[in-house]
Amino acid sequence: MEIIKTIKQMQSYSREQQRLGKTIGLVPTMGYLHEGHIELVKAARKENDIVIVSIFVNPIQFGVGEDFDIYPRDLKRDSQLLEKENVDVIFNPEGEEMYPAGYNTFVEVSGEITTKLCGASRPGHFRGVTTVVSKLFNTCLPDKAYFGQKDAQQVMVIEKMVKELNFPLTIVRVPIIREKDGLAMSSRNTYLSDELRKEALLLNQSLIKGKQAIENGEKDVEKVKKLIQDYIKTSPNANIDYVEILSGEDLSDLSDLSELKGKILIALAVKFGNTRLIDNQLVEV
Ligand code: PAJ
Repeated sequence: MEIIKTIKQMQSYSREQQRLGKTIGLVPTMGYLHEGHIELVKAARKENDIVIVSIFVNPIQFGVGEDFDIYPRDLKRDSQLLEKENVDVIFNPEGEEMYPAGYNTFVEVSGEITTKLCGASRPGHFRGVTTVVSKLFNTCLPDKAYFGQKDAQQVMVIEKMVKELNFPLTIVRVPIIREKDGLAMSSRNTYLSDELRKEALLLNQSLIKGKQAIENGEKDVEKVKKLIQDYIKTSPNANIDYVEILSGEDLSDLSDLSELKGKILIALAVKFGNTRLIDNQLVEV
C-alpha cells in the first residue's frame, strides 16, 4: 500500500491505472476510521481493480466554532486498518496542497437539497463537501465512489452534483453500520462520555419508533415527528437540532403520507453536550 501526498502524483498514478485498463474505486473519508468506513472500503474492494481511500480533514466544510481543530486524527492506525483491507493507495494531502494561498474556487449545489436539515444548521457545510469531493474526483479519477447512507443528505447532494456536472463516474451508496447496541458508528462518537453515549442510544430507538408508526399506517407527519421528539426529550442531556420527515428522493416537504409512494427519510441531528450526532432511517411505502 502506498501513501500519496500530492495531487500531481495521485493523478499520474490514476492515469497510469486507467491506461492499463484498471477500474478505480474511491472512498473519500476524513480518517479516524471505524467499521462504517471499512464497510465502504470492502464494497470498493469487491468491485474495482484499484482501491484508493482519501484521508483529509477538509477545513472548508467546518463552520466557525465547529470541531475542525479537535477532529480526531490517527494516520498510523488508519493505515494499519486499510493495509488489512488490501487498499492500494491512501491519498493524504496536506491542507495547503488542496487549498494553496489564494484558493478561491467552490462547487455549490443550490436549492432545498442543501438548505434543509444539516444545510440549515451548518451554513456553507455542503459547499465545502462538494468542493472537496470534486477535487478528489479530479485527482483520483475514480470509476466508482463510495458514500455512506449515514450521511443521507450528503450522498443525495453528491449524486445531484455528479449528475448535473457530468462527472464520469458512479456513486455507490452503502447502508448505515451500527454498533451492536444500535448507535450509528461515527468518528465523533469518541467525544462522548459513557453517560452521554448511553443516552445517544435514544436516537436509533426513536427512529425505529417513527419508522414503525409509519409502517403501521400513521399518515400525519407532525404526529410522527412529535413521537420522535418526545422520545428524545426523555434524555436529560439531549438538545434537538432537527427532527425531519422528508421525501427520500429529493428532500421535498411531506405534509401527509397518504398519497405517497416511494422513500421517506426520517432524519435527525441532536447535540449531547458539545457533540452533534446525526442519524436517519429510510422508510419505503
Ligand atoms: P467521514 O465522516 O469520514 O465519512 C466518510 C464516509 O463514511 C462518508 O461517506 C460517510 O457517510 C461514511 N460513513 C461514516 N459513518 C458511517 C456508518 N456508520 N455507516 C456507513 N457509512 C458511514 O463524510 C465525510 O467524511 C466527509 O464529508 C467527506 C465526504 C470525506 C468529504 O470531506
